Amino acid sequence: MADTAVYLRDYQPFAHCVDQVELTFRLAPNSTRVSARLHMRPNPAREGRHDLRLDGEGLRLIALMLDGRPLDATPDDNGLTIPAADLPGGPFVLETEVEIAPEANTALEGLYMSNGMYCTQCEAEGFRKITFYPDRPDVMARFRVRVEGDAPVLLSNGNPMGAGPGWAEWDDPWPKPAYLFALVAGDLRAHGDTYTTASGRQVALNIWVRPGDEHRCQWGMDSIKRSMEWDERVYGREYDLDVFNIVAVDDFNMGAMENKGLNIFNSKCVLATPETMTDDEFARIEGIIAHEYFHNWTGNRITCRDWFQLCLKEGLTVYRDQQFSGDLRGHAVKRIEDVLALRARQFREDQGPLAHPVRPDSFVEINNFYTATVYEKGAEIIGMLKLLVGDDGYQRALDLYFNRHDGQAATIEDWLKVFEDATGRDLSQFSRWYFEAGTPRVKVYEAWSPGAEGGVYTLTLAQENPPTPDQPTKGAKVIPVAVGLLNPNGDEVVPTTVLELTKPVESFRFEGLATRPVPSILRGFSAPVVLEHDISTETRAFLLAHDTDPFNRWEAGRALSKEVLAAMVAQGAPVSRHWLSGLARLVRDESLDPAFRALAMRLPSEDDMAATLADAGHVPDPAAIHDARGRMSDALAAELAPELPGLREAMATPGPFSAEAGPAGRRALANACLALQTRLDGGTAARAAFDAATNMTDRLSALVSLLTVGQGRSQLAAFEHDWQGDRLVMDKWFSVQVLHALPDALVDTVNRLTARPDFTMGNPNRFRAVMGALSANHAGFHHASGAAYRLLADWLIRLDAKNPQTAARMSTAFETWRRYDAGRQERIRAELSRIAQTPGLSRDLAEMVGRMLG
Ligand code: ARG
Ligand code: ZN
Repeated sequence: MADTAVYLRDYQPFAHCVDQVELTFRLAPNSTRVSARLHMRPNPAREGRHDLRLDGEGLRLIALMLDGRPLDATPDDNGLTIPAADLPGGPFVLETEVEIAPEANTALEGLYMSNGMYCTQCEAEGFRKITFYPDRPDVMARFRVRVEGDAPVLLSNGNPMGAGPGWAEWDDPWPKPAYLFALVAGDLRAHGDTYTTASGRQVALNIWVRPGDEHRCQWGMDSIKRSMEWDERVYGREYDLDVFNIVAVDDFNMGAMENKGLNIFNSKCVLATPETMTDDEFARIEGIIAHEYFHNWTGNRITCRDWFQLCLKEGLTVYRDQQFSGDLRGHAVKRIEDVLALRARQFREDQGPLAHPVRPDSFVEINNFYTATVYEKGAEIIGMLKLLVGDDGYQRALDLYFNRHDGQAATIEDWLKVFEDATGRDLSQFSRWYFEAGTPRVKVYEAWSPGAEGGVYTLTLAQENPPTPDQPTKGAKVIPVAVGLLNPNGDEVVPTTVLELTKPVESFRFEGLATRPVPSILRGFSAPVVLEHDISTETRAFLLAHDTDPFNRWEAGRALSKEVLAAMVAQGAPVSRHWLSGLARLVRDESLDPAFRALAMRLPSEDDMAATLADAGHVPDPAAIHDARGRMSDALAAELAPELPGLREAMATPGPFSAEAGPAGRRALANACLALQTRLDGGTAARAAFDAATNMTDRLSALVSLLTVGQGRSQLAAFEHDWQGDRLVMDKWFSVQVLHALPDALVDTVNRLTARPDFTMGNPNRFRAVMGALSANHAGFHHASGAAYRLLADWLIRLDAKNPQTAARMSTAFETWRRYDAGRQERIRAELSRIAQTPGLSRDLAEMVGRMLG
């Protein structure tokens, strides 16, 4: 790899400060002119005189002036150096003019065009593709921006300072790093509203969309207002500008971006109507809007000193958006969904070749570190901190964090210090969660000694911290293990207690118990660990029936499903009666939330089963997993057969559509029942449901139910007929066909779809709809022929030439390769090597492939 790594230990403050930035953009698709005036001075924190180094990539330098006088300097490949000897000892003004070509920008980083509209993505290091600048988060400056162009709407960060035909000016009073800069220009329409903050500031809210999409903004607007209200009420944080703008952009590498006062969203993550988006998407949109909005304090007002500290803003902001969604939509179901995602993505990452600490200490390409580990494990660490210091301690620590670090670029050490100072707790051992990769494993041993005065129950917990790349050994973690004890009738005899495991092995005693209790361990998933507890199927079934902690009740069913499925795959065992009757009882239980019942019915994914089997020392056979999982669904369908139609009817949601958690949960249960019914009735009910559907949730569920049993041709055609002009809806059409293709038909399905004129690599959503589904179809992707591996590698190589960031991200499809048999390993290794040897491969993809090959 030609590109070298950047190391945390090399950090030094920038040698100069930027007090004020004035930018002028003269927009043109192939020749945009960017003029910059940087008001700078030497950084008093750095002694002596230093060269001025500005980052810059792909910029054509037109003019360069220092304090009004032309300066002679030649840029290199990644920037421009002005020798210390040319700089005055005090403040100075550096002016540059550069030319860039937004239309030629297919990487979608910097200033680019999407459907005729100009937009930007600067995080992490995209601003250097716009102008010469110290593109690092610890350089914070006030920005004043003038945009000239023939688009009707011209937007940038901060407050509007004036506008006329062909121009607009914006001023952001809050100093910010360049990664939060944004500019948007185009023919846009606003869905507007206002919000009055707790202290009475009137804020104009706008969601900007392309003409025709105005009616898709209501849910997004409601979500903004809910987020603003929640952050005031729960964290005491108010919005700090006169306007808050969101823009929906079709071509976007990620979900959304928190640019100060001008959030830019992938249109998939903001636009919604009942006819076009599913309930899950409504919930996701609400969560992402909250996430970006919450960044205004955790990310923007307090930012990161360097990119190694990314989890400082992302872990905290994910934690905050999870709290918000839990408050709005129910904590039990939200926690289960979050843990499902954590295990599917973060555990997978943490247990493979791409494992890295939540705060890494080196990287080649920072875009490769916007990972489940930084985001989701980063959020889990905060959840653990809150458990350890208590709700009051957490609140005091956060208040201190905002008071102490507002306006600063901070570190994880600063963050931990705030908790230490606010609570008096020593967090040096706890900090290993940030600095050490890998998923700890916790083994549970039980002992019971009866006695006249009551028995003593002893729980022994042993932790193991497995090796990860570059970290062969590591110390014991502080692991909060929430435990409750039930007696054999199912009554709770010891309510939830948080045990703090800090040593490799530790025992905890519970005295005065009348009978030997059944423990409910790791309640609420109190730590991101793998729990190993050998308990009988009967005990799991007991917890599934009686646990008072909803997360662990679900978890008992989950563990049971995995055991049953593992036995079916590895030993050809029949479907377990215990599992069937326990799960059926729960599905029928009308006292339980329908959303919870629907989650309990969801079987472990095939990828999850492959991981589980590999973990237990087996070599997973993807075809056998696929087959056994199908038999398990068939058995559940047969068990519930008489009740399915009635359950669906009972879950009907008459009246106008609402995306709130209640009705969404009812639809989830009804559609889970429909999926089972379709396995029994030849598709009659699903065809009727497809025709009768009045919202996308029901329509897509019916379609997927049919595809799963090898039907649905005419429904696919009808869907295409109805939605062919709609990019976001058609993404679903592409995706479900690939996701549910039979293993033997997967490659042909993908080839048929990519040959269509509406398949394009230029749109990341469309590319992901097909190629993301290709690797998510577990049995098809891991088909023994290796054809799907080859197909994905071909497409990643093609995409890499245009959009390295998305290509690199999607290469993680291969990260689990060492789980499988020698033949599959050899085929994947060959594809990874072929990618690695591609001439001109991007730094992004080269780093990923290199790490996966190890
Ligand atoms: N900060 C954004 C968010 O979490 C993500 C932007 C990441 N973009 C990137 N190119 N790495 O909301
Ligand atoms: Zn974020």
